Amino acid sequence: MSEKSFHIITFGCQMNVHDSQWLARALMARGFTEAPLEEAGVVVVNTCSVREKPEQKVMSALGRIRQVTGGAPGVLVAVAGCVAQQLGTTFFERESQVRLVAGSDGISGAPAAIERLLAEPDLRLSLLDFTSRYVEREAGTDGPCGPVAYVNIMQGCDNFCAYCIVPFTRGRQKSRATPAIMDECRARLDQGAREITLLGQNVNAFGRDKSGDGVSFARLLAQVAALPGLERLRFVTPHPKDMGPEDVAAFADLAPLCPRLHLPLQAGSDAVLTRMRRKYDRRGFLDLVAALRAARPDLALSTDLIVGFPGESEEDFQATLEMMEACDFMSSFSFCYSDRPGARAALFPDKIPPEVQQERLLRLQTLQDRLSRRWLDARVDRETCLLIEGRSRRDGPDEEPSWQGRDPYGAPAHVALPPDADHTGRMVPVRITEAKKHSLMARRTGELW
Ligand code: SAH
Ligand code: SF4
Ligand code: F3S
Repeated sequence: MSEKSFHIITFGCQMNVHDSQWLARALMARGFTEAPLEEAGVVVVNTCSVREKPEQKVMSALGRIRQVTGGAPGVLVAVAGCVAQQLGTTFFERESQVRLVAGSDGISGAPAAIERLLAEPDLRLSLLDFTSRYVEREAGTDGPCGPVAYVNIMQGCDNFCAYCIVPFTRGRQKSRATPAIMDECRARLDQGAREITLLGQNVNAFGRDKSGDGVSFARLLAQVAALPGLERLRFVTPHPKDMGPEDVAAFADLAPLCPRLHLPLQAGSDAVLTRMRRKYDRRGFLDLVAALRAARPDLALSTDLIVGFPGESEEDFQATLEMMEACDFMSSFSFCYSDRPGARAALFPDKIPPEVQQERLLRLQTLQDRLSRRWLDARVDRETCLLIEGRSRRDGPDEEPSWQGRDPYGAPAHVALPPDADHTGRMVPVRITEAKKHSLMARRTGELW
């Protein structure tokens, strides 16, 4: 085991994945190398607290680390992310191997803290303060990047949806400065990226906080879309209440903007939406969907849904199913509501019994499977283009190895390509030949570029 080797375990959303990737690059720039858990001198658990039993998940990860490392005191364990923010220094008492806790903003100081802790074996450190502005992070190693890059445009959230812990764990919304975002996008494109996803908890509210620099989300999108070398642009997550006409128009105007939008609905009944404090209603959501489809007729929508929110009646739940049909979501993430500490809905009466939640979730997922099936089936025989992300495990016909990529809707697809080269990062014109359970099979129809 080398002291300067690290292993990161990541739970949670794309922003956590992105934080972990940054931390890895920052540690590598300081001379650390990535290693399997058994061999790592530093182990970081980057945690999520958005839904059920996050503490248990973290404790079981810490238990596994203790088991694999034999509890060696020389192994430095750090807990980062949303559960670290929430539970703070209590981790020092829970697990003696933990010597660093770093919250959502504190993670930016983690590389320096890790070096200090290695030099001072008796020390423990906590980085739990929120900053008042978006703090730029140290640059990490800038080796080649994959074809798909994620760029953070903001931190935190101001919405306080009644069920959600994120505003407490990630803090208030802080927009990143536009020039820094543009520089990072350019750097990723120079390193080989061809697709960029802009990340934030409520991206349409970009710029509308005291860290904002006067650039709106729609203007930022237009600026990024104009960067040379960019083939595809996406963003997550928008909030329906903040999607303005300019954001909708972007789907008509910006060629690299993909015809796919993840637009969280959460629930289909106005009564539940009001209690969730989502600040839109069915009509507003449907009007938004209609405007988006008018701007981009081939737009595919996906969503997040919560079942069994406190007080949700069978009729409320039916309204969610109706909205799913009306919006024709190509896919959805769906969850049973669970109380989160500090979130307002934890105090609401009329909690829905778990067995009712489960039964509703199952019905919802059955409907989604049908909608997803229909969407995938309708892709067959279409001409489209794939961005290749790597080799696929499937064997191609005619001795040609099979490669895996995504279509503009983000659907995974497999295609056989000539065996002469590494096709990662190339665009391939294809015709979709078959829809499998969760992915598409395609045949190349033209030259790669
Ligand atoms: N900022 C994004 C994502 C927030 S967290 C948004 O506004 O959509 C991701 C998803 O987790 C949410 O969209 C919601 O569907 C789900 N979620 C959040 N809190 C939850 C809770 N207490 N119980 C169940 N699901 C929850
Ligand atoms: Fe949570 Fe709502 Fe903010 Fe999304 S918009 S992170 S659901 S509070
Ligand atoms: Fe989880 Fe924090 Fe993301 S709670 S979903 S890791 S913002």
